[in-house]
Amino acid sequence: MSAFQGSVPESPRPVFHFTAPQFWINDPNGLIYYKGEYHLFYQHNPFGNEWGHMTWGHAKSKDLVQWTHLPVAIPEQKDHMIFSGCVVHDQKNSSSLGSASRGPLVALYTAHREGHQAQHIAYSTDDGLHWNLFKNNPVLDLKKQDFRDPNVFWHEPTARWIMAVVLPKEFKVQFYASKNLIKWDLLSDFGGHPSFKEIWECPALFSLPVKNQKDKTKWVLLISTNREFSSMRYFTGDFDGTSFRCDHALDQVNRVDAGKDFYAAIPFYQSPDQKKILLGWMNNWAYANQNPTESWKGMMTTARELGIQRESDGSYRLLQAPVESLQAIRKKEREYHADQGTKFDTWEIQTSPAMEWQISLDSHKGVVLDFDFGKKAKLLVTWDATRRQLCLDRTSKSLAFHQAYPSIECTGVSPGHNLTLQILIDRYSLEIFADQGKAALTSVFFAPGALQKFRINGKQFQAKATLWDLDPLAP
Ligand code: FRU
Repeated sequence: MSAFQGSVPESPRPVFHFTAPQFWINDPNGLIYYKGEYHLFYQHNPFGNEWGHMTWGHAKSKDLVQWTHLPVAIPEQKDHMIFSGCVVHDQKNSSSLGSASRGPLVALYTAHREGHQAQHIAYSTDDGLHWNLFKNNPVLDLKKQDFRDPNVFWHEPTARWIMAVVLPKEFKVQFYASKNLIKWDLLSDFGGHPSFKEIWECPALFSLPVKNQKDKTKWVLLISTNREFSSMRYFTGDFDGTSFRCDHALDQVNRVDAGKDFYAAIPFYQSPDQKKILLGWMNNWAYANQNPTESWKGMMTTARELGIQRESDGSYRLLQAPVESLQAIRKKEREYHADQGTKFDTWEIQTSPAMEWQISLDSHKGVVLDFDFGKKAKLLVTWDATRRQLCLDRTSKSLAFHQAYPSIECTGVSPGHNLTLQILIDRYSLEIFADQGKAALTSVFFAPGALQKFRINGKQFQAKATLWDLDPLAP
């Protein structure tokens, strides 16, 4: 990481979550795996620690854990900012922006100016380092104030590019098709249901093989929604090359992550072994500009591998797990047990700024996991086995950096008296993956120090935990 050059002291960085070399970030953009490297472009303000001057920052990584910063990819222009979008590899040079022997990388993004948003493209013929703005931009313009966040993929059965893009205030995704990434034709609209009240942003459509149904794939449409708080939901269904048909009621809300800090996530275009890898911005518009960090602001989540499975009621459930490469930075494994926990058990944890916890719990009633960061800053992870709920309570007073921050977020977990949790803790964040990836719950926190004490409270429980430090730099 390059050191901050200004006069403001720098807040310590997260250990394994991505931050900009300096200043503000929000959405991940243009995620693509290309020539053995993951590229992350991101909404960035190169001039300050709050939202503004939107520009595409750029970094790359071989393992999605350690990133190398690269020069700004697409800077803010005189009359417009560079809002969110995607990057595709135009392998056959359908756009004619590269050459027959070398298809270009093409970025599709929203050009934003006061009162007007339209879709533009830029292209790179040097593996994403330098970008040329296309001369005949915009490539898609409805002359609307709100029309943004294009996400494009190659649809093999119809041999054309498909774009998902949102009309945020009409709560709609529109699908467009193109043979060359330049001329786009409207295919269909999805959404617009009267139950929708929050603006729609950052759509992404993709298919996943169903884990427990042989030879079956399911289409998933992700959207980010924002009003009082930001969150993400998904629709499952089918895409026939023209329209997306949802297989459940539109007012059924399937949250991608039940926590408050998972937003604007999009999948990587391409990845090794056809894996679908998702990366999000770990923040919430309700208080993002007030995150109390100096000289940098905003983090990405841990990259997650996605799956999908059919449930016994016939619905489809998205599955998430941290990418496997995170295991390579596990250090100092240790184990803890509570065999006959009656009231509570306090574990003398050797702490470190970043850790992974794998906890298996056994109880008929449930337990409370109490993560104590000192100076009365606590996060409580509560499992209620009777109500089949897992909650994260971040209402402790000393964590409240903003009035919208304190909250208790919950998600449903499977019935039964066993629960397995994988918890990733870094400076400023906690990500919980529960129930074999069926539930995820992500939260930022700004505590005065590292984890100091850990306690399990419950009536009759057994608990077993394996812990690792997570440290990309330690041998
Ligand atoms: C989502 C979003 C996008 C927009 C970008 C602007 O967080 O509001 O809709 O393109 O951020 O920075």
